[in-house]
Amino acid sequence: MSPVDAFRLSDAAARKYQDHSVPAMFAPLADATVKRLNLPTDGHVLDVACGTGALTRAIIEHLPGQGCVVGTDLNQSMIDIAQSMTAQTEHNVEWVASDVTELPFDAQSFDLACVQQGLQFFPDKPAALAEIFRVLKSGGRLSLTCWRAISPFNDALAEALAIHVSDDAAQKARAPFSFRDGDLITSLLQDAGFSITTHDGIVLQRRFEDLRAQVLALPVEQDMRAKGEAAIDQVLEDIAARLAPYAQGGVFIVPQEAHFFIATRP
Ligand SMILES: C[S@@+](CC[C@H](N)C(=O)[O-])C[C@H]1O[C@@H](n2cnc3c(N)ncnc32)[C@H](O)[C@@H]1O
Repeated sequence: MSPVDAFRLSDAAARKYQDHSVPAMFAPLADATVKRLNLPTDGHVLDVACGTGALTRAIIEHLPGQGCVVGTDLNQSMIDIAQSMTAQTEHNVEWVASDVTELPFDAQSFDLACVQQGLQFFPDKPAALAEIFRVLKSGGRLSLTCWRAISPFNDALAEALAIHVSDDAAQKARAPFSFRDGDLITSLLQDAGFSITTHDGIVLQRRFEDLRAQVLALPVEQDMRAKGEAAIDQVLEDIAARLAPYAQGGVFIVPQEAHFFIATRP
C-alpha cells in the first residue's frame, strides 16, 4: 500500500465521519476559522482535503459577492457526501477528488486556499505545500489549522486502548495529533515560499454527553468490538476517570487546541 493509499476511506467511514466527527469538532473549528478569515469579495477559494465539506460550507455561507468555491479531497467517498450536503448558492461551487500533490488547477488560480486538519495526514508535506503555493495567486493566502496539543480526551482514549485493546488502536487514536510542532510547520511553510502572516491558536470546548456512543463512533470501534464488551467497559471506565477534572453538570467539556496559520504567497 502506498503512503497515500493508507488514507483511502470507505463510504461507511465517510458517513460516520460526517455524522459524528463533524458536529463534534470539524464544524465548530470551521466556524471559528471562517470568523478569522477576511474572505475576499468575489474570491476564488480552494478547500484542500475538504473531507465532507465542513469548512467549505462555512466559506460558501460567508463569501461576499459571487465568487467560486472548490472543495478537493483524496477520497471520493468524502466528496460525495460534501456534494450531497451543499445547499443552493449564488456562488460557483465545484467538488473534485484529488491528491493534494496533484491539484488539477492552473497555476495562480486562487485567492485563498484552506487546509483544515489535513496537513498531518499528507505523506509528502513539502510537495503538498509546494502544490498549494503553485495554485495560489501572488498575494494569495493559505489558511491552515492542525491540532496543537493532543486533547485530554484522545490522550485518555489512547492510554486506555493501549492497556485494554491494542497498541495499534492506541496509535490510531493519537494519529490526528501526531504533527503538532508549530516551529516545524512554520519551517515547512517558509521552505515552500510562504511568508507567515499569522500564527496563533484556536481552542475548542468539545462536549461529551454520551461517552459510550461518542467513543464507539470513532474509527477504533472495530478494534474495540473485536476485544469484546468487557474491554469496551474498561476503556470507558478509564476514560471517565481521566476526564473527571472536566466533568460539568453530567457532561465532560474538554479543551482541544489547534494551530491557526495564515501564510501568504509573496
Ligand atoms: C481529519 S479530515 C479533515 C477533513 C476536513 N478538512 C474537515 O475539516 O472536516 C482529513 C482529510 O484529509 C484527506 N486527505 C488525506 N490524505 C490526503 C491527500 N494526500 N490529499 C488530499 N486529501 C487527503 C482525507 O481524505 C480526509 O478527508
